[in-house]
Amino acid sequence: MRRRLAAGNWKMNGTAASLSEMDALIEAHLSPSVEILLCPPATLIAAMASRKGQHPLAVGGQDCHAAASGAHTGDLSAQQFKDAGATFVLVGHSERRTDHRETDDVVAGKARAAHAAGLVAVICLGETLAEREAGQTLDVVGRQLDNSVPDGATGLNTVVAYEPVWAIGTGLTPTSEQIGEVHEFMRSRLSARFGADGAYFRLLYGGSVKPSNATEIFAIPDVDGALVGGASLKAADFSPIVTAL
Ligand code: G3H
Repeated sequence: MRRRLAAGNWKMNGTAASLSEMDALIEAHLSPSVEILLCPPATLIAAMASRKGQHPLAVGGQDCHAAASGAHTGDLSAQQFKDAGATFVLVGHSERRTDHRETDDVVAGKARAAHAAGLVAVICLGETLAEREAGQTLDVVGRQLDNSVPDGATGLNTVVAYEPVWAIGTGLTPTSEQIGEVHEFMRSRLSARFGADGAYFRLLYGGSVKPSNATEIFAIPDVDGALVGGASLKAADFSPIVTAL
């Protein structure tokens, strides 16, 4: 009932030459049974959306402003991402929360803007190593989930990505039990808030997902896919992850 989703976040990597990686990914998955999403830097969204042609690969932004338009130099609105061909946008990535001091309230505002523009919001959250070591993981995840996911969220317009900050780009991953505990917790929290629709939210795991650990991670209950950073940059790495899903 939940379509599995393999999402790649290129972060601040990639130029026009990198579009060949999308070509190779499409070539390897001409008729994918799972949904594939690439979030390139904003400079490549329009080119990617037009170059993919009729292939079902989805293109997404990495962040959007909470306002629909206005005097916000350097920012981009959800509507502008949609106009460029995006159908998804990431919000609340830990790098945004840290580098730009984004709070849960700010993230919720961005998710609302995404919904208003007709984009699917991929809302990212996760604990730091200090919070995990202090036994606060579920408290932190619960608070971020409650406050970053806006009231208008549904299983259709929202995906939640659990990304422990300490696992991002480090090569470290939580155990299957640790991932399973958080995903089960998020599922029950969403169901308590959104009722039956809570079962329809797709829950992604992110943080050092690679071909060698994807199969084990995707076998965990309530893991509906992955948000992949480094291993999404090359089709040779991302394609086996898509296949494992
Ligand atoms: O958005 C993606 C995550 O930050 C994971 O990045 O796969 O390089 O650890 P990573």
